[in-house]
Amino acid sequence: MRRKVIAGNWKMNMLPNEAIRMIEELAPEVKNTQSEVILCVPFTDLFYALLTAQDTNIKIGAQNMHWEESGAYTGEISAGMLKSIGVEYVIIGHSERRQYFNETDETVNKKVKSALNANLKPIVCVGETLEERENGKAVELVTSQVRKALEGLSKEQVQSIIVAYEPIWAIGTGKTATSEDANSMIKEVRQEIRNIYGQTVADGVIIQYGGSVKSSNSKELFETSDIDGALVGGASLKAEEFAKIVNYNNE
Ligand code: 13P
Repeated sequence: MRRKVIAGNWKMNMLPNEAIRMIEELAPEVKNTQSEVILCVPFTDLFYALLTAQDTNIKIGAQNMHWEESGAYTGEISAGMLKSIGVEYVIIGHSERRQYFNETDETVNKKVKSALNANLKPIVCVGETLEERENGKAVELVTSQVRKALEGLSKEQVQSIIVAYEPIWAIGTGKTATSEDANSMIKEVRQEIRNIYGQTVADGVIIQYGGSVKSSNSKELFETSDIDGALVGGASLKAEEFAKIVNYNNE
């Protein structure tokens, strides 16, 4: 059976003192969970977050990286740099980066490869716009994003990635996809991975849902057949609310 992986994406929020406080509050609340707990924090919080989370079951991730190992790329951070301080995960291709920072399926693919080469686990984001969904193009678009993001990877490499299906119309809008719709798209993604990498890889790969996940809807989402957890934005900023999402199965 696949484990649940629940990751927070703080986006451009939280100063170091807020990050430390949040993690100190969260750690005792999630210490007994069977799920994997990850916080993807801004670059400036990484070091503080890693130190604070050191003796806990909370893993720390970044929200972006460059695909080159080093060089004249002012303002960029490489996978090796993240790995060198103890970061384990990195979000790649979030829709906000595709929308505001011109990330494409090609740059996402380069970043995924570079992250894996540095032993970082990528959380690869895919998702359709409302227009694409209304035009009946959502499945085609999302499966194509997955195919392009994973192009050239070996079976072993695909086993260590996480895919996050985040419909753009559900991000920060309070509008969650129904658990049926989210599960059905995630099944399509798993089928696409099965077509390319076979049954064993598809059965093992973690596929999360993201978009207005909160404690009031997480249980329903997580009890479906194919949703393996969530990538949580706004609701990951408060320890109490994020802990409730992690502990969805404690009555
Ligand atoms: P919200 O949970 O705030 O809708 O954000 C989702 C998201 O973009 C996580 O990466």
